[in-house]
Amino acid sequence: MSTGKLYGIGVGPGDPELLTLKGLRILQSVPVVACPQDRRGEAGWASRIVAQYLVSTQKLRALHMPFVPEREQLEPAWAAAADLLYEDLSAGLDVAFITEGDASFYSTFTYLLGEFQTRYPHIAIEVVPGVCSPLAAAAALHMPLVIGSEVLTVMPAMHRLADLEQALLHADTVVLLKVTGVYEPVYRWLEEREWLGQAFLVEWVSGANQQVHRCLPPPGEKLPYFSLLVIRRSAHLTG
Ligand SMILES: C[S@@+](CC[C@H](N)C(=O)[O-])C[C@H]1O[C@@H](n2cnc3c(N)ncnc32)[C@H](O)[C@@H]1O
Repeated sequence: MSTGKLYGIGVGPGDPELLTLKGLRILQSVPVVACPQDRRGEAGWASRIVAQYLVSTQKLRALHMPFVPEREQLEPAWAAAADLLYEDLSAGLDVAFITEGDASFYSTFTYLLGEFQTRYPHIAIEVVPGVCSPLAAAAALHMPLVIGSEVLTVMPAMHRLADLEQALLHADTVVLLKVTGVYEPVYRWLEEREWLGQAFLVEWVSGANQQVHRCLPPPGEKLPYFSLLVIRRSAHLTG
């Protein structure tokens, strides 16, 4: 029996219509759909984005892929997730691993891909890109993320304000992902420089509960995990 194929599909940032036609076609053709679990242990946001496209005969596998920095916890979880999907693949079933946004942009799919490339290299893999959150945020804000010869820096997590300072020396636009935990110091930093007018916050971009803040909410407000901040040096191009 031939083995199944593993697909990594970026399903976009929230609006189900931002899934590519290719992603949709593959998603509806596979018997097994897999995604990371959320913090409650249920199928995470990627599965909710595409829920309307799935049918009850498709098996949905919610994989335990913890959100922790410790590699000693992460690596066994990635290996176990790959082993579980390998069972389906070796039974000849195609599997689509769905991931929010794009599959190669700070995505858990990358860890799974690594497991397959090293441990199950005979499995055929196809990656289908998706719309990543900074691009959707620029669309929601009606402004370019970058234009002409401008430079873009994406910071997936900011540990020190000095890193932001450094990034803004070189980049015209800085996108801060995972901004929730650092929002207050970043707000104060922008305030001190009188840059609050050049920073924009988008929560749940393109989803039904999207919030676009052209004027930043005061620090102290609890932001959802799915929030990002766009800082543009040239305020005249901010739409
Ligand atoms: C691990 S990264 C995943 C990025 C994702 N693969 C993508 O293509 O956008 C998670 C961070 O991306 C940002 N993010 C992802 N989706 C978002 C959304 N729909 N709205 C706002 N921010 C989002 C948030 O900053 C979040 O903390």
